Amino acid sequence: MNDILILNGRLIDPLSRVDALRDLLLRDGRVAAVEMPGTLKGQESAQTIDAKGLIVAPGLIDVHVHLREPGQTYKETIATGTAAAAAGGYTSVVAMPNTLPVNDTPSKLDWMLDAQRGSVVKLFAMPAATVGSMGETLTDFEALRKAGAVGFTDDGKPVLEDHVMRAALIAAARAEVPVSQHAEDTRLTGGCSMNAGPMAFRLGLRGMPIEAEARIVERDIQLLREIERAEGLRPHLHVQHVSTARAIEAVRKAKREGLHVTCEIAPHHFALNEEAVGDYDTHAKMNPPLRAESDRLQMIEALLDGTADCIATDHAPHAPFEKRQEFERAPNGITGLETALGLALRILHRDRGLPLSRLVELMSSSPSQIVSLAGRGSLAAGHYADLVLFDAGAEWVFDATISRSKSRNTPFDGSPMLGKVRYTICEGHIVYRG
Ligand code: DOR
Ligand code: ZN
Repeated sequence: MNDILILNGRLIDPLSRVDALRDLLLRDGRVAAVEMPGTLKGQESAQTIDAKGLIVAPGLIDVHVHLREPGQTYKETIATGTAAAAAGGYTSVVAMPNTLPVNDTPSKLDWMLDAQRGSVVKLFAMPAATVGSMGETLTDFEALRKAGAVGFTDDGKPVLEDHVMRAALIAAARAEVPVSQHAEDTRLTGGCSMNAGPMAFRLGLRGMPIEAEARIVERDIQLLREIERAEGLRPHLHVQHVSTARAIEAVRKAKREGLHVTCEIAPHHFALNEEAVGDYDTHAKMNPPLRAESDRLQMIEALLDGTADCIATDHAPHAPFEKRQEFERAPNGITGLETALGLALRILHRDRGLPLSRLVELMSSSPSQIVSLAGRGSLAAGHYADLVLFDAGAEWVFDATISRSKSRNTPFDGSPMLGKVRYTICEGHIVYRG
């Protein structure tokens, strides 16, 4: 009845190793068939989408978004944040737990994932690793896992204490999900509002040293080694928003060693450097901060050479009145769901030659594997009908005033983008048409 036929598009599905013209039939929320062009016939009632000239890919998956509900719905709601996600080509997002109250119990997780919240894409969540994200007592990983947790994190803050992080990695390994770490040694970053370097010096701001990130990444990797040796478990560490050359090098070495480490890079960390702070622009303030140009270039290398597993936006909406304050008082974070694909296509694909199949891997298939989203991240028959259709050659300029997000805090207002989302389809429903 509600069949959708997608004809003449270029299907890029890295998990099934397809990059070729294919027609797809979507039925009952799933991919029913993937065939050579012109061979799918007899679907009289089907809605037809002519995808000639478009890339057809598994819907984008973001393992790191802040949707602000419950508690801060003046910044964003699950409905508005996921509408922005759909407009950006995303069909699944993973909500961080730094809501008010912190998402640290199965009942709060249930409430967040309830259909009544009005999510327009598939919503997943990572509850807090510690009660109230206070870094002391672990939450109930087993119960939260049963309630749908796809990982654990205290994002916004690190799990700082060695013994707490060790226990979190062990409990998460038993639950077969990752611990996502916001790698910041907060003992080194108190009162800091940007990257430590010449720009902070010029602006008279206290800067966060690169060691604050690198030390936590290195400590966590050491914990993986110790746990593998002593407990016979294989914990999975996921490093969030890596921003420094030193941290990415630690991840590269740990992967070579065979440890289970994955990491994400946010678009702003491959698109911008600390110079973007300019004249105290609070739209260039986030945590981790924009770093030196040499760090930015290393983020691109890591995306090109496979060290980085995925691109995650860290979509962090804040209201205009909050960003319209002195730089040091303004909150950290920028929106990102509607600009991630356009930046990745322009900066990584066009300027640096990242193949489209690798881009789809970074934004869909690989994130689906990091948080084990069964049936997503691929368009092989039987998978969920989660798709993005985009025109990879379309040039456009992002206009923050027409964002679907409730907030406008982006440094990319007026920035050139490459690649326009034409359709986002989630479980067989068209959730965005561009
Ligand atoms: O920039 C950030 N914003 N970094 C974080 O770690 C938290 C996030 C937020 O919640 O606003
Ligand atoms: Zn974070």
